Amino acid sequence: MNLNNDITIAVKILCNGGLVAFPTETVYGLGADAMNKKATNRIFEIKKRPKNHPLIVHVASVDMAKKIVDDWPQLADKLANKFWPGPMTLVFKKNNLLPECVTGGQNTVAIRIPSNHTALNLLKQFAKNGSGYVAAPSANIYGLLSNTRYWDVKRSIGNYLTTSDFILEGQNCSYGVESTIIDLSSGNLRILRPGGISRNDISDFLNIKIESFDLDDSAPLVPGCSEKHYCPRTPLYVLSFLDQIKKIERFLNEYPKQGRFFYWGFRLIPLKSTQLKQVIAPSDPKEYGRNLYSKLNDLDEENYTSIFFESPPKNFEWEAVNNRLEKASS
Ligand code: TXA
Ligand code: MG
Repeated sequence: MNLNNDITIAVKILCNGGLVAFPTETVYGLGADAMNKKATNRIFEIKKRPKNHPLIVHVASVDMAKKIVDDWPQLADKLANKFWPGPMTLVFKKNNLLPECVTGGQNTVAIRIPSNHTALNLLKQFAKNGSGYVAAPSANIYGLLSNTRYWDVKRSIGNYLTTSDFILEGQNCSYGVESTIIDLSSGNLRILRPGGISRNDISDFLNIKIESFDLDDSAPLVPGCSEKHYCPRTPLYVLSFLDQIKKIERFLNEYPKQGRFFYWGFRLIPLKSTQLKQVIAPSDPKEYGRNLYSKLNDLDEENYTSIFFESPPKNFEWEAVNNRLEKASS
């Protein structure tokens, strides 16, 4: 594999209206030239994603971001200087440069500069040779698991791509959970989705307390507004250590022979059975996040009857992981 060569191919494909799946520091994105309506519409078709779910626009520089925004508050400069390139998405009032389909009919636009070398190189090269604006949701079927590895992307959406599209293999997804989405369009800072950058990182840096965000009817669409999202095919149960013991015991009784179960927790549960495999989960939230989607993808391949995760601590360091687990579980 020659990465520079692959990026050159990917840029050509974007310029020709094809789709490119590429690694970012969070998860793989499925990208199209944001200025090309036909190409961006294909993203919605392939993902089976409702048309009113806006896409994040990825760029290589703050100057490029400013060009598609109507109102750029000072706070955006402060956040961008600190957290870009990186796993932070900012939502602004938009101007009319981007096609409507990218922003799902909203009057706002979500923008991010990724730090992953492969992603950033792709964006830089595409800025030289094309529009430079890459609309990209996570590279997975709507509602199902996000992907952090080339082969997971290939398995999940590969069949829907053509020879005019491309999947880039490159630097690893070092965060493993999606970006933190921060809304700056209303005058107040609101976190719409917890992610790679924690609420503490942001509030410590700005020296303010950030309220928890309650979804209400007026809220813009964020992933997981719909209750189920990020779902594995195998039923996943996320419960406390003690509840998990009771649950697994019940399942072992209900499926005395044919069931196969997997437990991922911070300590082993005191149950022994050939039907139950137990593995210790990372106790560090960053390490856990980095492994979450690849673990779930692997477990889906292993065809367990059910999988059981011990619920992580309920604090801000675990907020993004807890948010994904809540939506992914049965
Ligand atoms: O880490 C990430 O953010 C990854 C990588 C590929 O960048 N992308 C990602 O995209 O997670 P997606 O589409 O799976 O989730 C982004 C969500 C969208 O579902 C959408 O609801 C929300 O961001 N979003 C996009 N534009 C928005 C806007 N103008 N206002 C509010 N939310 C918006
Ligand atoms: Mg997604």
